[in-house]
Amino acid sequence: MEYPFWDLQIGYGILIAGIAVLHVFISHFAIGGGLFLVINERAARKTGDAHRLVFLQRLSKLFALVTLVTGALTGVGIWFCIGLLSPAAVAVLIHNFVWMWATEWTFFVVEIMAAILYFYGWKHMAPADHMKIGWIYFWAAWLSLFVINGIITFMLTPAAWLVTGRLWNGFFNPTFWPSLIMRTGVCVMLAGLYALLVAAGLKPGESKARIVRQTAWWGLCGLAIALPSLYWYWKAIPAAVTAAAIQGLPTPIAALHLSYWFAGIVAALLVLFGLIAPGKLRVPVALVLMAMGLGWFGSFEWFREAVRKPYIIVGYMYGNGIEVADADRYRKEGYLSAISYRSGDDGADLFRHACRSCHAMTGYKALKPAFDGVDRPFIAAIIKGAHLLKGNMPPFLGTASEADAIAAHIETGLDRRHISAIYGLQGVALGQTIFEIRCGRCHPMGGRGDKTTSLTGLTREDYSNLLDNAADMGVGMPAFTGDKIEREALIDYFMTLKAGGGK
Ligand code: HEC
Ligand code: HEC
Repeated sequence: MEYPFWDLQIGYGILIAGIAVLHVFISHFAIGGGLFLVINERAARKTGDAHRLVFLQRLSKLFALVTLVTGALTGVGIWFCIGLLSPAAVAVLIHNFVWMWATEWTFFVVEIMAAILYFYGWKHMAPADHMKIGWIYFWAAWLSLFVINGIITFMLTPAAWLVTGRLWNGFFNPTFWPSLIMRTGVCVMLAGLYALLVAAGLKPGESKARIVRQTAWWGLCGLAIALPSLYWYWKAIPAAVTAAAIQGLPTPIAALHLSYWFAGIVAALLVLFGLIAPGKLRVPVALVLMAMGLGWFGSFEWFREAVRKPYIIVGYMYGNGIEVADADRYRKEGYLSAISYRSGDDGADLFRHACRSCHAMTGYKALKPAFDGVDRPFIAAIIKGAHLLKGNMPPFLGTASEADAIAAHIETGLDRRHISAIYGLQGVALGQTIFEIRCGRCHPMGGRGDKTTSLTGLTREDYSNLLDNAADMGVGMPAFTGDKIEREALIDYFMTLKAGGGK
């Protein structure tokens, strides 16, 4: 499956994240909502609790509407976007899992029909039939999670599939069960938080306190299921993937840490306003709870999407849609001939396929600031050494002349003034900026590849020699191609470095 490249002036990561986050929130709500409704309906009918039944009826209207309209729209939106942005990866998912997708869609249709009937049936169905429909609603929704969970987890841990290519190896992969149980916990938690939001608006009184307390348990139980399985999930990811993320990817790790905070706040608020003082729960607090719950789940999803870099399907396909198996061929023969839709501007086409899926020149993960004021050979060297930079990027898979063509294309969008004029800096401050641009992408201070120790305590002459021999210091390290002003400023900066890191 090949399309002309979809060149939007927007960060693709942001676009996908915007639609997908909304979709996963809604779909998990819907699943947990189904369970919440039937279990509570059964309890309410047993005890003849009329208040609770009215409350449930109100909830089911929102659940049904939210699921139907927003869930379906965002679901289709995701397909449009990923199909255009990552046609190669979507093709792998469709070819391998075509019957799984068909099964998932079938469950989704059943879920939607059952949700409509359930809502309609409050007044028009015998209680026993109504509850049967409710169970169908829940199980169909959960089974669609079961199926899609296999496909999503496959992208992070395809494991044995990489060798056998067998559907079941890819589907029941190492993160399948931890992810399924964790997501089930999230469904229960989100349903509880959503129901609390509705319950917070009830008239104060004894029945409100009772409903809030019963509902808060859903939130707490959901968390109690989700948190341990998140840990299990982390452990099920191959150590090499998590180690690479800890070393080179601040984003997913920060997201994971953030998620603990959100979870802690949710738990504290649930105990306080759900169990200890349920009568005091007001809408603003319920809104905060909901925001924190979504924050928790959202940061997990962010982590999951980010941790598999540089791959889109770990070990099989890079984030820019290039298959690992083709790497050597493209390095030798070039990538250009593999691009089906050519615009006539080879540099631009290569840039789109090699870099554009993750970077824009300005805005999202902008490349302009990384290259403003530098020379073309340096840009080409960075392209060829992309895998050495922080951020766990895919290696550049093309020939040296293709890297030059990309560099020439990038150059057209840059500020061509001298680097000292662009930043209005001189001396040590200029030197530090030059270090960040020309060295720090591969040797961030205090990060992986830190070179402070090697760069400390030399004479100006030694530093100058070092820069003369830069290209020989390591495979992939660029020659120093800055002018005399840049060189002097960089050396000024080196002179200020102290052993043990930083200045
Ligand atoms: C699969 C996604 C992906 C692809 C493809 C990709 N990059 Fe990156 N790149 C990243 C990530 C993630 C970072 C880290 C960003 C951060 O630290 O905020 C990064 C960082 C960078 C940086 C350092 C930016 C900075 O400000 O520190 C440069 C320069 C860069 N990339 C250039 C390129 C070039 C040139 C290409 C194409 C040959 C490319 N990248 C392809 C994901 C990608
Ligand atoms: C594209 C990535 C890249 C860039 C940019 C880069 N280097 Fe390197 N550098 C490497 C690699 C790879 C090695 C060899 C492996 C290692 O030692 O980490 C290396 C090695 C070195 C070494 C010798 C190894 C040691 O531990 O003493 C020094 C010193 C060094 N770099 C300094 C610099 C300076 C100064 C700059 C900026 C002018 C720079 N590097 C820019 C990739 C890079």
